[in-house]
Amino acid sequence: MRIDILTIFPEFFSVLDVSLVGKARQSGLIDLRVHNLRDHTHDRHNTVDDTPYGGGAGMVMKPEPWGEALDEIIGEVSGGAAGADAGADAGPVLIFPSPAGELFTQKMARSLAEEPNLVFGCGRYEGIDQRVFDHYAASGRVRLISLGDYVLNGGEVAVMAMIEAIGRLIPGVVGNPESLVEESHEDGLLEYPSYTKPSSWCGHDVPPVLLSGNHGAIAAWRREQQLARTRQVRPDLLPPANSEE
Ligand code: ADE
Repeated sequence: MRIDILTIFPEFFSVLDVSLVGKARQSGLIDLRVHNLRDHTHDRHNTVDDTPYGGGAGMVMKPEPWGEALDEIIGEVSGGAAGADAGADAGPVLIFPSPAGELFTQKMARSLAEEPNLVFGCGRYEGIDQRVFDHYAASGRVRLISLGDYVLNGGEVAVMAMIEAIGRLIPGVVGNPESLVEESHEDGLLEYPSYTKPSSWCGHDVPPVLLSGNHGAIAAWRREQQLARTRQVRPDLLPPANSEE
């Protein structure tokens, strides 16, 4: 998978050199490129923002640097087609993290992990001029995605979270693919609690069923734990039949 990131803070992304994503980059499973939006400005001060039309607090990111940068990246990854001319399905998915976007989920991460090209645009200040989204939406692949109902200072941290969630679902990135199956959200529930040795620690014992060797009983216990946990802290995730009791 090729991932392009457009930001005014490229240094944020040096952490993607380490851990599983770092290894995936080294082995060529992920081709990750970080671009400085200011390289697409043409004034002395490398200006990327301006005051909002209609007034109001803060600054808005100007459309021209975004247009130039996105056309260049889209042209590169889709062999010439760019912007509104790219046509549906022809180009990369353009993802703009925003608290005004659709909620990022595991299901979304799974579907984005199947894409060959993702481009992330990190907004700052009060956001990006709406025309950038409208212009590239003509290609049908623009998505505004929110990490949750809270406000970050910009898109960079949200992009890192999304890349980690998507990257680990790319085949080969996580060594043991079985470890991806029994995780929170994979089957719509929170995951069951895990324990390792020693079997007793500071007066807390591992639940005896896990030491029993009875795989059927262990599976049943884990399922019940998943349901109990989900019912307690995230009842919104439960299908209606399981949400009462
Ligand atoms: N940018 C600012 N806040 C955000 C959020 N909650 N999710 C994604 N991007 C953001």
